[in-house]
Amino acid sequence: MPRPRTAQDASEPALGAVEVAAPSDAPAGVQLVWPGKFDEAGRRRRPQTRAGRVELVRTIGQAGGNRLVHGDFRAALASVPGASVDFIYVDPPFRTDRDHFLRAGRDGGGGRQTAYGDRWDETQYLNFLDDLVALCRPVLRETGSMAVHVDYRASAHARCLLDEHFGAERFINELIWKYGLGNATASRHFLRKHDCIAVYGRSSGYYFRRQRGEVTPAQSRKYCHEDERGRYMMSYGKRYDFKGGKPLESVLDIPALAATDAQRCGYPTQKPLRLLEVLIESLCPKGGTVMDPCCGSGTTAVAAQRSGRTWIAIDESDAAIELATGRLEGERDCAFVLERAC
Ligand SMILES: C[S@@+](CC[C@H](N)C(=O)[O-])C[C@H]1O[C@@H](n2cnc3c(N)ncnc32)[C@H](O)[C@@H]1O
Repeated sequence: MPRPRTAQDASEPALGAVEVAAPSDAPAGVQLVWPGKFDEAGRRRRPQTRAGRVELVRTIGQAGGNRLVHGDFRAALASVPGASVDFIYVDPPFRTDRDHFLRAGRDGGGGRQTAYGDRWDETQYLNFLDDLVALCRPVLRETGSMAVHVDYRASAHARCLLDEHFGAERFINELIWKYGLGNATASRHFLRKHDCIAVYGRSSGYYFRRQRGEVTPAQSRKYCHEDERGRYMMSYGKRYDFKGGKPLESVLDIPALAATDAQRCGYPTQKPLRLLEVLIESLCPKGGTVMDPCCGSGTTAVAAQRSGRTWIAIDESDAAIELATGRLEGERDCAFVLERAC
């Protein structure tokens, strides 16, 4: 069960395990300021690293580099070597001001099992996001990138923090995940139907492979000729070869998982595999390493596994790790180590 957050979390002293280049005490340009960011002497807070042990719980199959780590990402990240990860996806708590429970039927009885708590004051939450970005960035390779998935509650704050830690010039995309389902009632605002995913590169040489969407009926009609070189269309006497569906745009129209979807494993904020497939195929080279420091039910790890990438998935929730373990054990030829960060 996740430990409820206390005000003490926000003021805990840094124990120091990971070498993190802290942002300057007085960064140039626009920046986000919140109570607790600077101490009385004007020094900027440092990420709350935790020097701890990572213990092996069990090995599933002939484990290669795949790791499922139970614990706070601040402790677990101390065991991830610097510059070793190609792509980080993180879908942290959104500060919804409520607890999230496993879906009915997962606890074997009528009770509700907490998946994770999501009640924070603003300082606690911003310190958490600050730690997340500050501690993840150094584990990225020079060609790596990080995607932070939040909603309207924290998207502006996340962009400011990413600008500060990565540099505004490292911004790659703001992706809009248009999920369609849910949030059907609103009388004082437009229906909220999207989340924001901010993507930043470790350097300007980040990896990116363009993905194409499905071929539309209109494209099929247009490219109506075919010869030994493949399909093509003619326009004003010029030949245009068919390259496939349109390159994916920054609005990703992928339905959220319906209550009856076969992918559903009972985790309350489970994301669809298709969303992770698109991100991983675009931002992580084949054979590369994907990391998710708040992995929940393990969606990122499952998508990475299916697309031939190595993965590191971390979560502090007992329920998340139990579900992720079960999901990953059910994947064909999936080998990994289950570890505990303490
Ligand atoms: C929105 S959920 C992730 C859902 C996931 N993307 C999925 O598809 O199942 C956020 C997760 O962050 C985890 N979390 C929150 N604080 C954490 C921390 N300090 N260290 C590790 N995990 C944390 C929660 O336990 C929760 O599982």
